[in-house]
Formats: sequence, C-alpha cells, structure tokens
Amino acid sequence: PVLVVDFGAQYAQLIARRVREAHVYSEIVPHSMPVADMLAKGPAAIILSGGPSSVYEEGAPQVDPALFAAGVPVFGICYGFQAMAVALAGEASHTGLREFGGTPLSIIDGGVLLRGLPDAQSVWMSHGDCVTVAPPGFTVTAGSPAAPVAAFEDVSRRLAGVQFHPEVAHTPHGQEVLRRFLYEIAGIEPTWTSNNIIEEQVEAIRARVGSKRVLCALSGGVDSAVAAALVHKAVGDQLTCVFVDHGLLRAGEAEQVEKDYVAATGINLKVVDASARFLGALAGVIDPEQKRKIVGREFIRVFEQAARDLEAEEHVEFLVQGTLYPDVVESGGGTGTANIKSHHNVGGLPDDLQFALVEPLRTLFKDEVRAIGAALGLPEEIVMRHPFPGPGLSIRIIGAVDEERLAILRAADLIAREELTAAGLDRSVWQFPVVLLADVRSVGVQGDGRTYGHPIVLRPVSSDDAMTADWSRLPHELIAKISTRITNEVREVNRVVVDVTSKPPGTIEWE
Ligand code: XMP
Repeated sequence: PVLVVDFGAQYAQLIARRVREAHVYSEIVPHSMPVADMLAKGPAAIILSGGPSSVYEEGAPQVDPALFAAGVPVFGICYGFQAMAVALAGEASHTGLREFGGTPLSIIDGGVLLRGLPDAQSVWMSHGDCVTVAPPGFTVTAGSPAAPVAAFEDVSRRLAGVQFHPEVAHTPHGQEVLRRFLYEIAGIEPTWTSNNIIEEQVEAIRARVGSKRVLCALSGGVDSAVAAALVHKAVGDQLTCVFVDHGLLRAGEAEQVEKDYVAATGINLKVVDASARFLGALAGVIDPEQKRKIVGREFIRVFEQAARDLEAEEHVEFLVQGTLYPDVVESGGGTGTANIKSHHNVGGLPDDLQFALVEPLRTLFKDEVRAIGAALGLPEEIVMRHPFPGPGLSIRIIGAVDEERLAILRAADLIAREELTAAGLDRSVWQFPVVLLADVRSVGVQGDGRTYGHPIVLRPVSSDDAMTADWSRLPHELIAKISTRITNEVREVNRVVVDVTSKPPGTIEWE
C-alpha cells in the first residue's frame, strides 16, 4: 500500500481517497507508528500529511530520518513537507507570513511534479511556517508569495514535497501533482480497482468465516447492501439478512428492499415489521438525542430477537456490518479526531455483543463502495441511492413522531425525490433530506380560505463524504415545481422553505 502518515490533518482521509482515485491502494497510519512498523507493511510509498502543529514547537511530531534511509519514496504535504525538510537538514521557520486559501504558485523549475502545468496556477495553502532552505540534493521547483520554497524534489532519491494541499478540490491541478508523484517519482502502477477489492475481500471472508453462519442487518442503504452482497458472494447461503422495518422509512423503501434487492442477489431475507414497537417507544419524544438513543436501542432489541429465532436453527457466529471509513472517523475512531455524532453501527453497539463482526468496507469511502456494488451487479437504484440515516424519518420530524406526521413527511419527501429524479439531478445532489417542522404553524391562503399549516424544509446538499457539505444550488424552476406540488398535494403543508446552510456550521440532518 501507499501509507498516508496522519499528523492530525483534517485532510488525511482526503489524501488517502485521492491516492485511491489514482488507482493505487492506500491506508492511513498514525504518526506515532514507529518507522520499522511502517516499513513492515511493505509500503510502495509514504505520504506525510499536513497537521496543526508548528515544526519547531515543543513536542511537535517529527519525522524519523530513518524513514528516508529506507529507500521508500516519500511525499511531504504542508506540515509533512516542512518536517521532511527539517529531517533532511534543510530549514523551516516561522516568518510571520501566513497564507490561507487560494494562493498563486510561481513555477521556478517544473521538475517532474509541476512540468508543463500553468505558470500562474492557484493552489490551496494553509500555513504559518514555511521551508526557507531546501535540503541538500533537492531542486526547488516552485515558490509562492509567503513560501520561497513551495515545492521541492530529489528524483534520484524518489523524495518530493509541496507546501500546498494537492488533495483538495481548490487546487485544480492537485490530482495531477499527486499522480505524478505516484506514477513517475515512486514508479507505482495504477492497478487498484474495485475488482481487486472484491477478490481480496471474498478471499478474506471465506478464510475467516469457514462454514459458520453469518447474519446481516440490512438497512436498505448502499453500505449494508454492498457488504451483504460481498459476503454472499463469499459464503452464499450461510448468510441470512434481516431487514427491520422500523416504520420510519420513506415511501416505497421497505418494498424496494424486499423485492429489488432479493431479486438482484438471491439473498435469504427475513423482514421484521417492528413499526408499532418503534412508534410506541418514540411517542411524545421531542429531544433529538433521545430519539436517536431510542431508535438505536429498539433496533438492537428487535435484531437480537431475530437472531435468537435464527439461532433456534443453527448457531450464528458472525455479524456483517456495512461500516465505512468515515463512520469510524466520525465516531472518534481516527487518530485524534473528535466524536461528532455516534453512528449507530460504531459507537452505538452494545458492550456484550454476541457476534464477531465482519466489516468488509471498513477501510473504504462511499464512492468506492458504490463502485464495488456496481461491479457486483447490484441494481443502480440501490447502488446510487442517497444516504439515509439509521434513525430514519424520526430525526426529520422536528417535534414528536406519530403516524400522521410520518404520512405528511412521506408524501412531501416522495414529491421532492420524484422531481429531483425527473430533473436528472440525482447524481449532482449528494443527499436530499426533507424535514417537517411539525410543531411550527404558519398562516396561508388556499382557494379562498385561510390555512394554518406546517412548513416543509428542503435540504439538498452536495458533499464528498458527509464530513463537510454545502447546500445545493438547485435550479429555481425545480424548487418552484417541488414547492407547488407539495403545497397542492399535501393538505397539511402550506409553506416550503429551502435550507441554505453549509456544514459546518449546520449539520446535514436537522437533528
Ligand atoms: P450530519 O447530520 O451529522 O449527517 O451532518 C452526516 C451523514 O450521516 C447521516 N447520519 C446517520 N447515518 N446513522 C446513520 O447511519 C445515524 O445515526 C446517522 N445520523 C446522521 C446523515 O444522513 C448524513 O448523510
């Protein structure tokens, strides 16, 4: 693999993802990992990420010079670039000049990384320190107003680095720079594809599971669907899927899982209708965190019961989960990252869990999972589905949850989804929550009469991985059509509004 050494960067994930987009497998490791352990992984290259520290600060993480003696290609980014300079006898210093955001890069000598790229390109910077003297043997290939050494390389030793962030979308030629490091400086072949992952995982699952029974909780979402399909490919009918209908699904969702998914995969599926139980437990509850906890708890209970029913036939040893890499990170599983919301499948698991977990997607990102799903032959309606949270519509009704309110929200949500699809914008919008402000009423006029109804909030967002998001600039005609249809067709709704908040400061869901 290519190892991305995480110095506490927000962007370490993104670097790993960009490397994988270049069809090279990559993994993130903490900077605290000893160099010997990194080398034991047989890395094809090592990328040192950015980080919040200042290289000369007391206790700032350093790069062990032994790393450069091993002959492994190394690429330093931002903090990693400065740490690399210092470790190799160059100099970095605190000049008092900071660069943040889009910055003009001047190419001094294109070298391998920057050759042929526009002289006046903009790059994304975020630094207060800079490299002032490149280490011996290195060619300085670019500078910026506040960073005299903004890129350097020593091709003979296969070492290079940049002060800017090539991994972010705001550095237009960043992916090209990264590719050049991987292919031309490190000499890596771009061979990593979804088919490789499928073969590797199928082998690993077979070896681990043997002839034991496996259970999977299917949510109807992409992740658990792809995880189940992978496990099914590996061990066939040893897998049973349980789909818990908690009554908080959108219109048509339960049917889609029951029919389309089984038709596409031939997987054994047990559907448990537990809506009465969930709605009972949620009755009168307004607090978002309490809703989340109730749903999480009830979900596990129903699931345990389903497992016991199955156990009556044969012992179940393994539980499949569609956990993705961002779930692990958001739940605080990354190095030095904060817990934002406990995802039900990571932070919400009971301590006395009776199963061994099989999580074949744990190192992957959503778009990679989609590619695998497509390669496994899952239908597009499943593979390209927008993410939907485990707590379902309960966290999209602001106020207490009941059947009547669920019916209003389902009707409005269906219209929004239908119109988005009709406009051909499913792919450009990452997720499209529709929220019912159930405890808010406003005055309207319909026909010749006064109405006193509820507002519906449209929350279309664009995102890469749900960690950050921006509100989608939907065409006004589309918003108008959705608004007209919802207010005409859903009697209780007399107002439609659009949420124009990014994440941060908002989150994608309202609760
Ligand atoms: P927020 O609202 O935190 O959501 O910006 C980020 C992404 O995660 C989804 N989400 C969840 N998914 N269980 C899930 O499986 C949960 O408890 C949960 N909470 C939020 C949300 O829909 C968005 O895609």
